[in-house]
Amino acid sequence: MPIKAAYELLNRSIIEYQGQPVGTAAACDEGVVAANYNECFVRDFVPSALVFLISGDHHIVRNFLETVMHLSGHQHVMKGHKRSLGLMPASFHVVTEDGEEKVIADFGDRAIGRVTPVDSAMWWMILLRAYVVATGDRNFAESEAIQKTITNILDLYLHEGFESSPTLLVPDAAFMIDRRMAVYGYPLEIQTLYFGMLMSARELLTGNGQNQKTIDNLQILSDDLKNHLRTYYWLDRKRLNEMHRYYAEEFGHNVVNVLNVYPESIPGWMDGWLNDRSGYLVGNVGPGRIDFRFFALGNLLAILFGITSQAESQGIMSLYESHRDELIGEMPVKIVYPAMIGDKWRFSTGSDPKNVPYSYHNGGNWPVLAWPFVAAALRTGRFELAQQTHNIMLKRLQRDNWPEYYDGRHGDLIGRRANFNQVWSATGLIIAHELMESAERQAIFDRIVICDLDEQPLG
Ligand code: GLC
Repeated sequence: MPIKAAYELLNRSIIEYQGQPVGTAAACDEGVVAANYNECFVRDFVPSALVFLISGDHHIVRNFLETVMHLSGHQHVMKGHKRSLGLMPASFHVVTEDGEEKVIADFGDRAIGRVTPVDSAMWWMILLRAYVVATGDRNFAESEAIQKTITNILDLYLHEGFESSPTLLVPDAAFMIDRRMAVYGYPLEIQTLYFGMLMSARELLTGNGQNQKTIDNLQILSDDLKNHLRTYYWLDRKRLNEMHRYYAEEFGHNVVNVLNVYPESIPGWMDGWLNDRSGYLVGNVGPGRIDFRFFALGNLLAILFGITSQAESQGIMSLYESHRDELIGEMPVKIVYPAMIGDKWRFSTGSDPKNVPYSYHNGGNWPVLAWPFVAAALRTGRFELAQQTHNIMLKRLQRDNWPEYYDGRHGDLIGRRANFNQVWSATGLIIAHELMESAERQAIFDRIVICDLDEQPLG
């Protein structure tokens, strides 16, 4: 009864504040590796929330949105900086001091490596829209406090910086991969979340006179961002061939090799990797730099959010089909491929033993990724891939005691430092299962997770 057990784990993980459910713990493991796994992480709560929303259990999601909203902007003030009100915490937990309950947030000030949770506010906005679509509770979104919070987030995320592209520039470890992994700059996952956030904010802002200009700007920016990702991140055989023949050092407006990428930087593993049907969005793009690694979550969200065209979405799923062992493996789904090894691992991770090749963030397999994977497979008509993933997970996850991640090239070993009873491993399976088994719940999911099935022609 893996699904029943998964729901039990989810229910056991619920965190209460003043007698009300406000979130879920990341893991319910007595022997967790890091102390903060008993906290509610904003990004880990997203699949919990999706389960609650498709099951009609809305209350906890609303409480969570309010709790995190009240915490936003309460980060530690850095000397010489004006505190930004738009930042949301990575995680929170409830403590009782002198008989009084308190919610304590972590904005990265306690987190390992002091990493900044750039993704939190973006997930919050995407979840707020999901909640409103699922419940029809527009009054909640239109309340003064929520509208102010949306504006604060946009002030921070749309603030002019030094970027010359519509993408968002972030430090290392700003999202699910929250350790040093050479993901600074313009990582794909952040860009897809950014797109999701802009689209959500556009729908959530009330159209009073003052907001209309912001709403128009959000439209322009999200279109530009989509166009940019399709132009500079998309890679298929045709594009690869263009890069293979690139000239560099071109100057001026009308050049081909805009980012001055040297063909010599195309890694050896790319040779023969793409067939004529497959393609994907690369991991990161910057001056003279393309990170060719395949990052699963960014690509899958791009399909779900309608960032990739229908043909491109099919290309991504064809890549999965042609590299099943490497990208899906024995326990779906590989977080990034390939792993960094040798000196590359040493210099890029700071010799991080948790991120040795094919472990954890550096090429481990994460059951939580099954939800966007199965959703993307269904959306692109790849029923067999969805079913295979669902079956593997039903067989093994409960037996293995809900590990956080798996190790190995094909993800066949329980992760060396993986927690057990990891809640998003269970919610990943529940969502995959509900999508496969219940047309009604799949329909709710499709409405609440932003999608753009009608391909918009880009001007
Ligand atoms: C790890 C993961 C992060 C997750 C957290 C709690 O730090 O890298 O993405 O939010 O654990 O599960």
